[in-house]
Amino acid sequence: MSNNLATPQLSESLAPDFYTPLCSKTIQSVNAQPDGLEITLGDGTVLDGFSWFWVRDHGIDAKSMDHTTLQRNTDTFALEQGQAKPEVTLDSDDQLIEVFWPDGDKSLLSAYSLLSIKQEASSQHHLAPKIGRILWDKDRPLENLPTVDHSRVMSEDSALLDWLEKIHSYGFCVVEGVPSTEQATADLAKRIGIVQETIFGDMWKLSAELTEHGDTAYTTQYLEPHTDGTYYHDAAGLQMFNCFEFDGKGGESVQVDAFAIADQIKTADPEAYQTLCQTIVPGHYIEPQVHLRAERPTFRLDSNEDLAQVSFNNYDRAPMMMTDNQTKKFHHAYGLFHELANNQDNWIKIPLRPGMTLIFDNWRNMHGRMGYVGKRVFYGCYHNMAVFESKLRVLQSASARLL
Ligand SMILES: [Fe+2]
Repeated sequence: MSNNLATPQLSESLAPDFYTPLCSKTIQSVNAQPDGLEITLGDGTVLDGFSWFWVRDHGIDAKSMDHTTLQRNTDTFALEQGQAKPEVTLDSDDQLIEVFWPDGDKSLLSAYSLLSIKQEASSQHHLAPKIGRILWDKDRPLENLPTVDHSRVMSEDSALLDWLEKIHSYGFCVVEGVPSTEQATADLAKRIGIVQETIFGDMWKLSAELTEHGDTAYTTQYLEPHTDGTYYHDAAGLQMFNCFEFDGKGGESVQVDAFAIADQIKTADPEAYQTLCQTIVPGHYIEPQVHLRAERPTFRLDSNEDLAQVSFNNYDRAPMMMTDNQTKKFHHAYGLFHELANNQDNWIKIPLRPGMTLIFDNWRNMHGRMGYVGKRVFYGCYHNMAVFESKLRVLQSASARLL
């Protein structure tokens, strides 16, 4: 490097561990173009689009970012749009980019963060965990029920990570060997994190003998597959049931991979898929002193246009008014979704018995219940999606550091 500025003291401005995870791709070289940073990967791919304003706003040195909380220290609003071209160097070993601004300031960027922004590396730190989803349905059946052992989940972080990764991959998992006690259920839930309190409380009992809520869940009747909390702006991310008692006939828990159903619709009827992405469906829940209401499309997409959340509960759907044409399209698409969700070939039925705890991703899997006679008592809770993702990221990062 041929400038007369002092080299940044890396010992004082090392990037936080968070920004230096393992990454299969590396940056080979960096070039300062007049309007922004250009990087060349080891395989020759050239990535650009990082304006100098953006670069200055995304420093990860201690002056630009709090290394404990990763909160931004840079005063974005004090930066001028037309940042003059700096000089840049690459620390190949640590994959860090040093930036020397003409005004004498210095900043540091993480090659990994640039790669993940350009989707050349795992985006686990932005939204989704690094493992993929495995969709299942009648054409893609699961060979085995995803299960984990209770005692291992409670005592080993590697088993806890395995549990959470299975929930993410398959949308559900069964924990075996769970004691049928409120304390054991609460302790298991705490392994993931703080539970989500709703009008049903934080930990709740589910049985037809309970009369405090009028919801269809508190009956013995057949429940069509649905997602919970369509009337909450922050519908539960996870739902967990520990089977305390079962003495009767029927009552199997039903799981449906709604992402797989959406995938089927996207292929077979793209217009119906679009209708389900675009039509806002309201949900409501009413009981004395309670009137909840929220609305979102059946298929909510993320900023990459990937499916992020399915919401479907026709029991709780609130009145909605559309034009005749919209109603016609919606009725077709919603009916198609309902038909596929109720095709038992797309289901997994799980006869839960004491010792078994079912947990599922309520943004992905629909759940239902076969009608039953006899006694069936569950004890369970919800977790917010952010809590689940947080624990998964923390455990994955810790696991990656041990490799
Ligand atoms: Fe439910």
